[in-house]
Amino acid sequence: MSAKKSRRSLSTPPACVILAAGKGVRMRSSRPKVLHKIGGRPMLLYSIDRAIELGCNPIVVVLGNGAELVKKILPPGVKVAIQEKQLGTGHAVKFGIEPIKRAKRVLILYGDTPLLTAKTLKHLLKVHSASGKALAILTAIMPQPNRLGRIVRKAGGEVDRVVEVSDATSDEMEIEEINAGIYVADFGFLKHALAALKSDNAQKEYYLTDVVQMVSAKGEVATCTVGDYTEVLGVNDRIEMAQAEREINRRSILQFMTSGVTVLDPEHTYVNSTVRIGPDSIIYPGAVIEGNTAMGRDCVIGPGAFIRDSQIGNEVEIRAHSVVDSSRVGDETTVGPSAHLRPETIIGARCRIGNFVETKKITMGENTKASHLTYLGDAKIGKNVNIGCGTITCNYDGVTKNLTIIEDDVFVGSDTQLVAPVKVGRGAYIGSGSTITKDVPPGALSVARAPQKDILRGGERLGKRKKKDK
Ligand code: UD1
Ligand code: CA
Repeated sequence: MSAKKSRRSLSTPPACVILAAGKGVRMRSSRPKVLHKIGGRPMLLYSIDRAIELGCNPIVVVLGNGAELVKKILPPGVKVAIQEKQLGTGHAVKFGIEPIKRAKRVLILYGDTPLLTAKTLKHLLKVHSASGKALAILTAIMPQPNRLGRIVRKAGGEVDRVVEVSDATSDEMEIEEINAGIYVADFGFLKHALAALKSDNAQKEYYLTDVVQMVSAKGEVATCTVGDYTEVLGVNDRIEMAQAEREINRRSILQFMTSGVTVLDPEHTYVNSTVRIGPDSIIYPGAVIEGNTAMGRDCVIGPGAFIRDSQIGNEVEIRAHSVVDSSRVGDETTVGPSAHLRPETIIGARCRIGNFVETKKITMGENTKASHLTYLGDAKIGKNVNIGCGTITCNYDGVTKNLTIIEDDVFVGSDTQLVAPVKVGRGAYIGSGSTITKDVPPGALSVARAPQKDILRGGERLGKRKKKDK
């Protein structure tokens, strides 16, 4: 190898082809495999992330099954090549390199290996450039390699070829070194090699792995073996998907702990890597935090809480078994246990949302309390309001949703129904058990319930009759 070549390939970022045209039959799904989510994100995005991190240009994704659906999730700038019929990995790469105009070398990835790290790929690229060889392949030592292609080495130790399981002899099946299916190849070499591929094998497919044998005789194959084989595990069925989910989550939780978040039981806590959590927050077992959620410092997330796409302030407590979905919660507010903040709930600072309180599409000013058993939907609620136990905003008249307005400093007695559209003026006081159908003027005391009737000795008489009936 010439030093010149090595320097050149190190400085130019490679092109990248990501294979994702397969159906993923073993997933038994109506959706393309690469769209199934791991750690809350379609698994294809992990490979694309890696390519972006390495500065690959262009990045081409080979699509076939469900291409139209997959296209929708691609980040801008990622190119698509369509492989109508899936005639093998070699056939797929042929399509994948079509949009590549200029490149020194090409990195080949799969869309179903979300555990692969950028560190490993950087190492593979380095091995390729340092070796000066036409091809570098990523391998792993695996105790039970199952369906994966085996690396057959010559007596001297150099790679001879890759043999697929369907073509392997029983001796070859014993080999523990496998082909991860990740390669770096000189672009010029790859183009020629792909053109020469044949499908004369057990599966009648164009094997990308055959390019290995084309250059191995000339000693043009370098290998890079990953230390931790779990990195190269592909996701082919729901069982492997669960394994990948666990590993992605483990890495994500490690990140949070490293950045100052206490996770009491990492194995039973799921937090997507897309989530942000401030330091000194504590997460109890069984909590699940997903998507575009951001949380401040010193929060406490109780056991079994589920939080998705929400903005949570500092020193917020989300108590056991509460659900917070697409909502905002202000500083020092407590929610739950067993509260349900449905989408478009905006709660101010120092509020209290207690047990069995459900909210939807409301705004709530600071220092307001709804401590027990309440439904608040389609409402604008001011600050310093007290919402009594069992309050219901009757927001739906069977046709449309109507707004309830509760101004600052209002006291709503327990078991009140607010029949929307309705407005309770600032500082008003509503007696318990009221059904409010008209606007309440500011400062008023409003009682809207059936007057109490006391029938003297009626209770005694009723009691006697009941005894006789027995
Ligand atoms: C391939 C390798 C095998 C290796 C294994 C690692 C070949 C012939 N074999 O196995 O040595 O151990 O990967 O996982 O390359 N794809 C397409 N179009 C096709 C065929 C496949 O896009 O026509 C895509 C699939 O969607 C998938 C990837 O390529 O993302 C790998 O395909 P898969 O069938 O899983 O690989 P194998 O051929 O089993
Ligand atoms: Ca396969």
